[in-house]
Amino acid sequence: MGIRQTNCVRETRRDARGEIRLGDSCLMDLSAYWGQVSCVYLDPPYMTGDRFILRQRVGVEGWGGGKRYIDLPAYTDRWPDRETYLEMLRGMVRQAVLLLKDDGALFVHVDTRVDAHVRLLLDELLGEKNFVNQLVWSYQSGGRARNHYSRKHDIIFFYRKTPELKFDITRVPLPRGTNRQNHMKRTVDESGRACRTIRTAGKTYVYYDDDPVYPGDVWNDLSHLQQKDPQRTGYDTQKPVSLLSRVLLPVADENDLVADLCAGSGTTGIAAAMNGRRFLLADSSPAAFAVMRRRLLSAKVQFDAETPSCMEPAKADIRVYPGLGFDDVCLMGFEPPEPWPEGIMSPDGIEQWSVGQLRDGMFQVLSDAFRSPTEPELNRMLQVPMNTPDLAVLIVDVLGNRYCYQVERE
Ligand SMILES: C[S@@+](CC[C@H](N)C(=O)[O-])C[C@H]1O[C@@H](n2cnc3c(N)ncnc32)[C@H](O)[C@@H]1O
Repeated sequence: MGIRQTNCVRETRRDARGEIRLGDSCLMDLSAYWGQVSCVYLDPPYMTGDRFILRQRVGVEGWGGGKRYIDLPAYTDRWPDRETYLEMLRGMVRQAVLLLKDDGALFVHVDTRVDAHVRLLLDELLGEKNFVNQLVWSYQSGGRARNHYSRKHDIIFFYRKTPELKFDITRVPLPRGTNRQNHMKRTVDESGRACRTIRTAGKTYVYYDDDPVYPGDVWNDLSHLQQKDPQRTGYDTQKPVSLLSRVLLPVADENDLVADLCAGSGTTGIAAAMNGRRFLLADSSPAAFAVMRRRLLSAKVQFDAETPSCMEPAKADIRVYPGLGFDDVCLMGFEPPEPWPEGIMSPDGIEQWSVGQLRDGMFQVLSDAFRSPTEPELNRMLQVPMNTPDLAVLIVDVLGNRYCYQVERE
């Protein structure tokens, strides 16, 4: 048996619910999706001037709750000037508009550093008449300013592509007891139903306690990710799934396609899958790509993936042992082209691996292994049906690099 390092351009999985892509969303060829997407969410850089990281756990110790991790660069949010920043965003919004169906919706999430400029850009590209809402996501997070009021909200611009917009707010009812206005007069109507009333401009408005309540344009009931939140992936600027569920539910029906062109840790993909929607995620950061791959695997969501694998020579020790009706594929060891940082050794440097069939650069995945807080130890034996032809292995290391090997049997 021999193994040969090779290129893998695309991973495919049976019953895939979406796709993840690595690359610049402004330049990517997404023509296969044009006119098919119900909701595009963009959470681009906000011109913060910062460099963001992925805090990557390492090996059994790191995944098991210990302090073993490395900080990997995720993305840089530094721009020579505002024009360059807005040019990037212009490319991304143009791509979003091409993707959208006529009844689709675009959401652009920014903060107060760039919101005024982004609003004007969106008016220019989508038309002022297609502005729907300026949503305010207000949250509590650490730190209080003394020289000004603390900045504790983000802005999400909501635009429609055309007046045909599909929007059903009844899909996001607030839990009972939220947003009930205490300054209103409490009373019961003649049938005994509890309600609150308020008189404005000569008119009395009645709100029944058992009527559903829907969010307004200020969302202060969706918490920021807390330090110990189990959703946390270690990717800076990760948003909560609850926020994305609220964004996509009213504008995308079940099985509709939702796209995120700045997908980061893949929150939109998780929210889409949890709510029975399909997804397209793209990001230019290899760290983001590795995180969203693992996050989807651990949520048991099937997906396709597109990105070339690394061709710098790296040694893998892969063995295949015949079993009854299946073969055991064992990953005995792996050495990257350059040693991993801080004395990380195999197998701790291996994060995820998959076995499948590789034909013409297409890797049909049959089985996956990955680390998680509940299973920090990497499963190094995966099974495939006996004598599977074109057997191949894909390895993702702790730095997010991907290596592919064709297994050649005698
Ligand atoms: C604010 S983060 C998104 C976080 C994400 N919403 C989450 O929940 O994890 C912005 C992302 O945009 C990505 N990005 C920046 N420029 C990009 C481009 N031209 N194409 C694709 N992704 C880009 C960055 O790599 C980063 O992951």
